Amino acid sequence: MDQSTRGSRAPEVLVELDRSLREPLSLQLERALRDGVRSGSLRAGTPLPSTRALATELGISRGLVVAAYAQLGAEGYLRRRRNTPPVVARGVGAAAAARTLTADPEWPHNLRPDLPDYGAFPRGEWLKSYRAALRGAPNAELAYGDVRGSAQLRDALAAYLGRVRGVVGEPEHTFICSGFAQAVSLLGCVLLGTGRTRIAVEDPSHAVIRQIVARSGLETIPIPVDAEGIDVDALVAASPDAVLVTPAHQFPTGVVLAPERRARLLAWAEESNALVIEDDFDSEYRYDRPPVGSLQGLMPERVVYCGTTSKTLAPTLRLGWIVAPGELVWPLVEQVLYTVISPPRLEQLAFADFLLRGELDRHLRRMRLRYRRRRDTLVQELGRQLPTLRVRGHAAGLYVEAVLPDGMDEARVLAEARARGIGLAGMAEHRAEAVREPALLLGYAVAPEPSLRRAVSVLAEAVRAAT
Ligand SMILES: Cc1ncc(COP(=O)(O)O)c(C=O)c1O
Repeated sequence: MDQSTRGSRAPEVLVELDRSLREPLSLQLERALRDGVRSGSLRAGTPLPSTRALATELGISRGLVVAAYAQLGAEGYLRRRRNTPPVVARGVGAAAAARTLTADPEWPHNLRPDLPDYGAFPRGEWLKSYRAALRGAPNAELAYGDVRGSAQLRDALAAYLGRVRGVVGEPEHTFICSGFAQAVSLLGCVLLGTGRTRIAVEDPSHAVIRQIVARSGLETIPIPVDAEGIDVDALVAASPDAVLVTPAHQFPTGVVLAPERRARLLAWAEESNALVIEDDFDSEYRYDRPPVGSLQGLMPERVVYCGTTSKTLAPTLRLGWIVAPGELVWPLVEQVLYTVISPPRLEQLAFADFLLRGELDRHLRRMRLRYRRRRDTLVQELGRQLPTLRVRGHAAGLYVEAVLPDGMDEARVLAEARARGIGLAGMAEHRAEAVREPALLLGYAVAPEPSLRRAVSVLAEAVRAAT
């Protein structure tokens, strides 16, 4: 018998249906519940009302509620239970993605896809640079200074990015900010201020980054990603004012934007006077061939280039940069000035010294070898211990996408894995629209090879428990 229909024990959820819309009521119901899970207002473990109770409350047929629950169960948002109403699944939605960013990174088995090997942070060399910066900085550097950041760092970055990424950027067009996260937030406000209100985002894309974009007030339009990157035909049809892309290594699918699509994306931007925000995510790590250059180098007046030290050195540095087209320079100056006045400078001076002494190049050469070995180990162990998972994506970046067998419940696998001390992520939490294939995102940067092998055997246990 349906437990939650018993009188006052029936839980309530806030769902508003609009009968004046053309969208069918069942889809509206699905959307409301999905949005609730994604935004975190329906928390993991929350029981939903019985189909009968919810149908009565909303004045719709019970069949519509049954269909909506079934769909959301199939998408991994709800955990269905026999003879009792479903509960909100663990490990889905923006709230889950946010938890993976904010939770303690010290998992016993750390397979988080968004971390570099922060234990390998070159403390000694950084200290040398920090000392040199502090000792050498004239007093004037301790004042507010240029809102764009230290001129020394902007010069050093322009040379570095030109050399390794083909970025065409004057130091005058370069802004130092607090990671890519702040870059997105600043750009969102600036786009709105210049009358651009609609921005396309890749679907899937990092759920937290998408939230940052949305909170700047822009309307976000999800555009599907396939094996060749963002679907440029769908983008052109949506006709947004700007698009945010990860062309070097798409997060989270790991695909690289195909050459023909790169060309069409730029042609579209030029023809429609739209802006492309290039998140040069993971471009430092390509293990089977050199990475393609930045999009920005091909069309600096239409592409806003963004980078970060979060995947090369350590996320805690919170050092990122924007290389902006001329038309955005003054709006960005104002946006920085009227939000934070100017970014903290001592880390910037240290980073300038670090770059100029060639330490970032040296660190990356070391780390690429290490990550490549770890990637090979992870892929091999997955093949050996979990042959039903299909590893997808290029030999690049800091994680692999492992597609789960059809019908396997991604949220359940995540919950079983996390309960066993594995830090990892799932594809569903990064999707804006309906979940297709269930998949795991498994990082190999943090754990050395023996720990990776152990982590995969624990993951194999979790997958068995979830089957
Ligand atoms: C797609 C993507 N771009 C960039 C970043 C880096 O952000 P930040 O520089 O704010 O640490 C992340 C972090 O996980 C990310 O997922």
